[in-house]
Amino acid sequence: MKARHRLPLLALLAAVPLFADPGTVDRDILSRPLPGLDETEMASFLRGRSLFRQSWVIAPASDREFDGLGPLYNRLACISCHPKNGRGGAPEGPAQRMQTMLVRLSVKAPGGARPHPVYGDQLNEEGIPGVPGEGRAEIRWQTRHEKLADGTLVELRSPLVRFTELAYGPLGPVMTSLRVGPPVAGLGLLDAVPDSTLLALAAAAKPDGVRGRVNRINSPQGPVGRFGLKANAHDLEFQIAGAFHGDMSITSPRFPEENCTPAQRACRQAPDGGRPELSMQQLSDITFYVAHLAPPPRPDNRNPAVDRGAAHFSAFGCQLCHLPSLRTGPGASRHLAEREIAPYTDLLLHDMGAELADHRPDHQATGREWRTAPLWGIGRLAAINEKVGYLHDGRARNFEEAILWHGGEALAARQRYAAADRQTRDELIAFLNAL
Ligand code: HEC
Ligand code: HEC
Repeated sequence: MKARHRLPLLALLAAVPLFADPGTVDRDILSRPLPGLDETEMASFLRGRSLFRQSWVIAPASDREFDGLGPLYNRLACISCHPKNGRGGAPEGPAQRMQTMLVRLSVKAPGGARPHPVYGDQLNEEGIPGVPGEGRAEIRWQTRHEKLADGTLVELRSPLVRFTELAYGPLGPVMTSLRVGPPVAGLGLLDAVPDSTLLALAAAAKPDGVRGRVNRINSPQGPVGRFGLKANAHDLEFQIAGAFHGDMSITSPRFPEENCTPAQRACRQAPDGGRPELSMQQLSDITFYVAHLAPPPRPDNRNPAVDRGAAHFSAFGCQLCHLPSLRTGPGASRHLAEREIAPYTDLLLHDMGAELADHRPDHQATGREWRTAPLWGIGRLAAINEKVGYLHDGRARNFEEAILWHGGEALAARQRYAAADRQTRDELIAFLNAL
């Protein structure tokens, strides 16, 4: 920095894009392709990238390729909830709108849950002109303090959600699930881990009362789920088409009907942006893009404290769920096939206790189960994203809070953390920061 101060301003400005300051974080680290894409693949990757970043417009528009937003929707673009392909966060209080998260809705039904008859399975806060947005979800935080064995007090906050401005009548008894947009890099590799691996992991005996099981989509015999925070989607294309449909109301070959319930007449009568609005080519391009986003490389900042943190991670039993290594199978492309990866997840559902429960079943997942969050790259998220909230609803403001919310099958791991001295805890956190 010192040498730069002597440069004239123009030279300084010119230098900025050329030489990245080694002290700053590369905010595009989650937007890079896996190495080795050929020219045709790179073209698809770039088209997919544009689609991911594209703000969709209301139909009919002069740009027929990107119209069809809504009638009811949450945000204009995928990137809005997956900023820099990284993690979103929760609002600070009721006055702030949800920027990077959504609320799932359902009502009780025999055998589990079904979408709300009027509002559907997700609150769409926005509507195009003439179609009222469904309403607003406000978050208020309640706090409590947790005392660690060495006397340290940690403030923990959990959200209370309240619905206002409901445009289609009262919600009535409803089950809700607050979910923050998770990072999207490395997902093609997770897609390529064979179902048989997940089933074997689920069947393996584990200490500490850790179990783990797969979600099954639509029925107990359905395909194995792995995407979504409750492993509630079985393949990446389905997850992405579902996001277009649920979050932006863009129809596609996999979701050909507009996202309007029978009670929402104006929604059903609004003009569409083509049938479907997203073509098969566009869906394959954006799926190719997401599938071939490289997982964040491990930073080169290992030191003795980080190595000791890695040892605590396994001694505490964190790695029973946050599995350090997995191997992919055949995969959707040669770039994804037969790779050793370090995602720090087993992709399985675990009972995480009453405090993290959303009490809303999702396919075969219960209200207490969540998919083990992948931890690769987690140390970089806070630098990539303006506002990061960890755990499904963004309640944890840092890693320590995230760990202290672990319960259920993760209770033993959490207790070991809470009983450890400060140096041990700091080393574990240093390890997470180095992932
Ligand atoms: C309103 C915010 C929002 C928007 C807009 C949004 N997402 Fe998401 N995304 C989420 C949330 C929340 C989840 C977790 C969903 C769940 O648990 O079911 C998610 C999950 C995902 C996942 C799975 C991640 C994983 O780890 O399993 C992918 C892939 C994804 N979104 C892609 C997209 C694409 C592509 C778009 C644009 C069409 C999009 N998202 C738009 C909030 C959003
Ligand atoms: C029984 C399985 C299990 C064990 C053991 C476990 N975790 Fe987790 N972990 C999860 C699940 C499931 C989630 C996601 C919970 C949610 O979203 O509410 C999670 C989330 C996290 C997160 C937040 C990630 C994010 O992106 O929001 C961190 C950090 C974390 N775990 C660290 C740890 C550490 C450190 C340990 C050991 C002290 C540990 N975990 C032990 C299952 C486990």
